[in-house]
Amino acid sequence: MVNSEIVNSIVIKNEQPQITRFPFPFKSDSYRYSNNSVSLESGQIVTITPEYFAEIGIKRHLLTTVHHRSYQSFSHSLEAQWECMEMIIDELCANYPDYFTIEKDGNHWIFVNHLLNETIAFIFGDSSSLPYEPLDFIGRHVQEDLFYISQRDGDLYMDAGQLCFPANWSIAFDAGMTFTEWHSPVPHFSDSGMAEKVKKFLMKMEAGKPWTRLNWTLTVESILDTFPETYAEWGVKKDQISPQNVGKLVHLRTEDQRLFRMPGSNGILFSIHTHLLPVCELPKNPAWLKRFYHVLLDLPEYMADYKGFSSYKAKLLAYLETEISKLQESR
Ligand code: HEM
Repeated sequence: MVNSEIVNSIVIKNEQPQITRFPFPFKSDSYRYSNNSVSLESGQIVTITPEYFAEIGIKRHLLTTVHHRSYQSFSHSLEAQWECMEMIIDELCANYPDYFTIEKDGNHWIFVNHLLNETIAFIFGDSSSLPYEPLDFIGRHVQEDLFYISQRDGDLYMDAGQLCFPANWSIAFDAGMTFTEWHSPVPHFSDSGMAEKVKKFLMKMEAGKPWTRLNWTLTVESILDTFPETYAEWGVKKDQISPQNVGKLVHLRTEDQRLFRMPGSNGILFSIHTHLLPVCELPKNPAWLKRFYHVLLDLPEYMADYKGFSSYKAKLLAYLETEISKLQESR
């Protein structure tokens, strides 16, 4: 668990206000599903933000108490998991040398997480030397959800995943599925031919040329672990939304998704960093406020239904309209 003394003694760098760090997902006033993947210039799989300690605390709590819900894997993914783990460790130590270090003596490795004051010695490739499977292990040191997708028999398979911050989907349910199967709840994704196109695009990805895309939805309250398995706990919060509290309760939720071809296994490493911003923060950026309003106004009903906010969409639109009017009056 998080060591509070260390937590207090290390300050995560780059502590800008939340709204300046938030990955706003809209490029225009209209949003439709498309393959919005772009080349990932930074090449980074993971990013450490000031929310690190809180989010690692939630992840580890879930992985301890409901492991089957937040981690799934097939034994044939183990070798590829070591490859993913090595790539993430090397990246962490290169990009955040004050926070993470690794000593390698052949296969004898010592990984230190200085943020959490944890030292782990293990033998690379020997699963009995680690407390958890490699993907499950390294996922406990980063804020991202992590997946290993294998490519075989002309398809992509969900072979391993650590998922603590799902936007209402289940790794226990999706484990072993193909790309088209796990996307089947997304309306008009398969029947429009998009699933097939995106799958073909992913299958042609090359090592060293990663991709990234932003996905978005809305969440009531600042809750990252919106599992379908616990819908009864967080889903009811939608009923509490009123014209008075809608701006504070509703959060714009962006998933920063990144895709990497693994040169050894030929599979894909997929990372998701989830960011939440209360809608009441948006007036601080008038261009975002107006854009979000127009996107919602123009959004097809099937998308609001799938994303789960049809019941409070009218209240949200009314709130955004009021905030836009206030901005115009104050000019
Ligand atoms: C291998 C990488 C990927 C994985 C593991 C993945 C996984 C998922 C999962 C599990 C869902 C939720 C489905 C549900 O409701 O149960 C989803 C939704 C979705 N995915 Fe993917 N996906 C991947 C890549 C992509 C790419 C490259 C695109 C590009 C178009 C894409 C487009 C979408 C869309 C549009 C949704 C609906 C999201 C929403 O409206 O909130 N996915 N994905």
